[in-house]
Amino acid sequence: MTPTEPAQKIPFVDLAAQSRRLRPEIDRRIGEVLDHGRYVMGPEVDELETELGRWGGGVSAVAVSSGSDALLIALLALGVGRKEDRRDAVFVPTFTFTATAEVVLLAGAVPIFVDVRGEDFLIDLESLDREYEVVRAAGVATPRAVIPVDLFGLPVAEEPLAEWAAARDLEVISDAAQSFGARRAGRRVGSLAPITTTSFYPAKPLGCYGDGGAVLCVEPATAEVVRSIREHGQSADRYDIVRLGVNGRLDSLQAAVLLAKLTIFEQELAARRALAAGYGERLRAVSSSTATPWRVSTPECGPGVESSWAQYTLRVDDAAGRPSAETRDALRAHLDRAGIPTAVYYPRPMHLQPAYESYGRGAGSLPVSESLADRVVSLPMHPYLDQAALDRICERIANP
Ligand SMILES: Cc1ncc(COP(=O)(O)O)c(C=O)c1O
Repeated sequence: MTPTEPAQKIPFVDLAAQSRRLRPEIDRRIGEVLDHGRYVMGPEVDELETELGRWGGGVSAVAVSSGSDALLIALLALGVGRKEDRRDAVFVPTFTFTATAEVVLLAGAVPIFVDVRGEDFLIDLESLDREYEVVRAAGVATPRAVIPVDLFGLPVAEEPLAEWAAARDLEVISDAAQSFGARRAGRRVGSLAPITTTSFYPAKPLGCYGDGGAVLCVEPATAEVVRSIREHGQSADRYDIVRLGVNGRLDSLQAAVLLAKLTIFEQELAARRALAAGYGERLRAVSSSTATPWRVSTPECGPGVESSWAQYTLRVDDAAGRPSAETRDALRAHLDRAGIPTAVYYPRPMHLQPAYESYGRGAGSLPVSESLADRVVSLPMHPYLDQAALDRICERIANP
């Protein structure tokens, strides 16, 4: 390539390559929906729930309208919200997508923001414990639940968290919007917490062609309550409204698309893992390089853990190993000039967002998340990214 020839842009996520591969199966599935005409709660939704339950490790799955609605429905199913004039407190990591916090307020409860660990972006149990004690001492809200988030596809270690929560009589809702398909110690996301929610937003590892999500329940009885809330709080009789609900249904067309995509999901997860391994091998060298103005730390899974690699997110420091938003942004610009898109998830933690800041303690209160917001950068990650693109990205990072 000559210096004047623009580099071909690498897609950040390549849904077009996936749809080319799956088009006949997607067309067939969509055709079936058009033929039977049951657009809402058609047979595809039942079939999808059976498949999702299997994928979740033998749990009861309820397909819903989005990952956000899945979280809200899970909170409602557990009765988290407010009792008379006293609000429940729900602990959420501050370094997450807004939906995790938003649903807590929509349910009538108060979000309590918790810091994450710098090395893997997951909820920090020490910070959780500190925030819990602050809520208890204040005595204003009732601690009721914690929502750990499997950020970027990496499942949270469920046992220490479950133990901590059980000792305090708190519910655990796992926000697995980004980690469907991941595993920990051979167990699938879906069976790692009593109740797990996920998202099928198009860019997620398993995505539909619109909005979609699911609630996965270890106890079938919980799934029955979730099913009722998904459809306006109905009982078996449609006009018997036994609890407060929402319209949280997934439509048959989205279920049809997901069924087609599930036929190749295992292969796609393997391709994501191979890509992450390729990035890791190539980029670990840049963690100590003196030839670049940046040092990058690669995400690692640890033994027995399989991420779904929703994102491949680096932490970037300056040449002296200090956190530096300028260095991170310089790396992004350097990649962008070579046709390599990047993204920052997330540029501002939730406790500093205008919508939520009255629930937090302001800048400096959750320092790890605040620092990560300046340091993270996500690279292109999808099952159709080939070796040449991987080489191009890694070479560009290693050569300023
Ligand atoms: C961590 C997390 N939770 C919840 C959601 C909400 O999912 P949805 O967009 O399907 O409503 C997302 C979506 O990006 C997410 O990343």
